[in-house]
Amino acid sequence: MKFFIDTAEIAEIREASAQGLVDGVTTNPTLIATSKRKFKDVLLEICEIVKGPVSAEVVSTDCEGILREARDLAKLRDNIVVKVPLIAEGLKAVKTCAEEGIKTNVTLCFSPTQALLAAKAGATYVSPFVGRLDDVSENGMALIQQILTIYRNYELKTQVLVASVRHPGHVVEAAMMGAHVATVPFKVLQQLAKHPLTDLGLARFLEDWKKVPQ
Ligand code: G3P
Repeated sequence: MKFFIDTAEIAEIREASAQGLVDGVTTNPTLIATSKRKFKDVLLEICEIVKGPVSAEVVSTDCEGILREARDLAKLRDNIVVKVPLIAEGLKAVKTCAEEGIKTNVTLCFSPTQALLAAKAGATYVSPFVGRLDDVSENGMALIQQILTIYRNYELKTQVLVASVRHPGHVVEAAMMGAHVATVPFKVLQQLAKHPLTDLGLARFLEDWKKVPQ
């Protein structure tokens, strides 16, 4: 399973890259706003660090506007993937992007039918938001299983990008289901490496090492 990092913070991207955990990056308007920097400045700096796919989201909601933004973003760097909302106008734009060779990440997916439509439109990735479904008492990971089953049934090429990941359990389930990618916040990426028995074991080894004649 590929790991993308879900952030626009350069320091987080650098640190996680050094740990070998960044196959790509996803951003969204909220994450860009949190960085307090200009959209394209952040995007280009991210692309300097990460050569894998970097998702950049459009803010238009009509097909023409989405396409204008998509073409503009795709021109910036080869590895930019245009993030498009899962609405009817978005699907129309995704179809044209596919025809023009522009990679897309169809975002804000909350149902298996939406995911099926994204794949039929030619999306490169679909982003189901598992955490936000859990937040409203639905089962985010059950949606991932449904989408993977549907895509496998018809050999659809769109990759399932598990988004809105909130804890390591989401990552474990995504990997067990065979999801193509999980986009994970920095904090959760760090949690993945943690185990109390590792810390206890290491402390004991280091303590015992002091008894060894040097
Ligand atoms: O980037 C999209 C998604 O990962 C957002 O996650 O935590 O805001 O629901 P969250």
